[in-house]
Amino acid sequence: MDGAERIPPVPRVAVAHALWAGIDFDRYFRWRREREGDPFFVRFPGFGAALFTGTGSGAMELFRAPVEVLAPPLPNPIEPLVGSASLILARGVRHRQERSLLAPAFHRDRIRHYGMIIRDSVRAELDGCGRGVAWRSGARVDARVAARAITLRVILRAVFGLEDDRRRAEYTATVVAFLTAFSGPLMLVPALRHSVFGHGPWDRFLAARARLDALVDADIAARRAGGSAGADILDMLLAARYEDGTAITDADLREQLRTLLVAGHETTATSLVWALYRLHRQPETLHRLRAELAGAGADAEPEELARLPYLDAVCQETLRLHPPVPIVLRRLTGPFTLGGVALGAGDTVGLAMPLLHSDPEIWADPGEFAPERFLERRYGPFEFAPYGGGHRRCVGAPLADYELRIALATILNRVELALAPRYARARIPLSVPHNIATGPHAGITFDVRSARTVSE
Ligand code: HEM
Repeated sequence: MDGAERIPPVPRVAVAHALWAGIDFDRYFRWRREREGDPFFVRFPGFGAALFTGTGSGAMELFRAPVEVLAPPLPNPIEPLVGSASLILARGVRHRQERSLLAPAFHRDRIRHYGMIIRDSVRAELDGCGRGVAWRSGARVDARVAARAITLRVILRAVFGLEDDRRRAEYTATVVAFLTAFSGPLMLVPALRHSVFGHGPWDRFLAARARLDALVDADIAARRAGGSAGADILDMLLAARYEDGTAITDADLREQLRTLLVAGHETTATSLVWALYRLHRQPETLHRLRAELAGAGADAEPEELARLPYLDAVCQETLRLHPPVPIVLRRLTGPFTLGGVALGAGDTVGLAMPLLHSDPEIWADPGEFAPERFLERRYGPFEFAPYGGGHRRCVGAPLADYELRIALATILNRVELALAPRYARARIPLSVPHNIATGPHAGITFDVRSARTVSE
């Protein structure tokens, strides 16, 4: 039997399903599972069907599956963004080789070097040197704008060592234009990816990507010509060698760098926004975290902050309730069974993170924001998987974890905030897809009640 025979036909209401999933992903997936049990099929137009699971045993089957039967789903909606050479889309031996090239840049020992970059990037944004207003007493701030600016600044400095303000501004504007140009319709409907006399959405996207590639190519050429900005990720990748002693080509390097820019900032930004939001909806949790931060001292070193247990628990609980990448997908290259359903080459399987992270068998009161649960017990890789799992687990997870803790602590140490009234009382905002991640459907605003000035 081939894959097409096993997968049910497209429901006539597939477009309606896709829309519902796009508007309220969590509820849609809960509804499908309630109707069909676990695992269950979901089919989206333009992407095909996938068999999803949301249980711990399903996650274990998926993440422990033999590497040789798993590949990323292709064609893939994000291919125009990251490029076909991207680690995210590579498979087999190539995936292993590219991963061994990139992984050392995110090794725990290496991550410590990024601590000051993260703290300085947060401070620059709070001081009004970024894209938003200064976080001074009385100001109203958009947490999403600020968080994106902070995490973009961090990744630009970590990857390209960007210190020069003019060059950083140029990169920032170019990356933002590039990501904004890849709208939801372009991502989900491949048929829209064609030129309209040079002025359509696809033309605008290609132009924005070409501008970003030109910046990246110029940096690669300058480094190859001998100019090093220091020990940044670009330097590491240029110095790295595959097992056979060869180096990465410029064309592949460009796509891996683009991948890091795309995968490495919006995901972390979203988590930062949700953490701030959840904390300010729950004063007793915020109070406990503030007490822990005060104990460490207002100017504690990043390394010290990253070790604080309650801060760690708050960040984990945020990723549990709001996983920025809510589904993990694999395309099968051979026979495989998920939850008792026999599948074959060409079929797609997926893990629905919001279901796993709210499974009542694993989590008590799953709807509650309760960081304490992470102090009381350790959760395994098949229970809590915001970074996916197996051989494709997020390569940037150590940086993301470190960044989230230090950014959150630095913000709370500098300012006292209150959620703008419409967010303080209203329902929890829905998460909607945006490029590679999902996030709150609107920018969440805060009022700055007081701000501490620091001498650098
Ligand atoms: C809170 C922040 C982040 C979350 C929640 C997140 C989540 C994920 C998830 C779920 C995957 C798919 C894993 C799988 O298929 O099993 C992934 C893959 C990946 N992530 Fe992240 N990520 C985050 C931050 C980052 C950062 C900071 C970087 C790099 C700077 C990064 C780079 C990547 C790359 C390159 C892959 C592909 C790995 C592979 O296929 O081998 N991510 N991420």
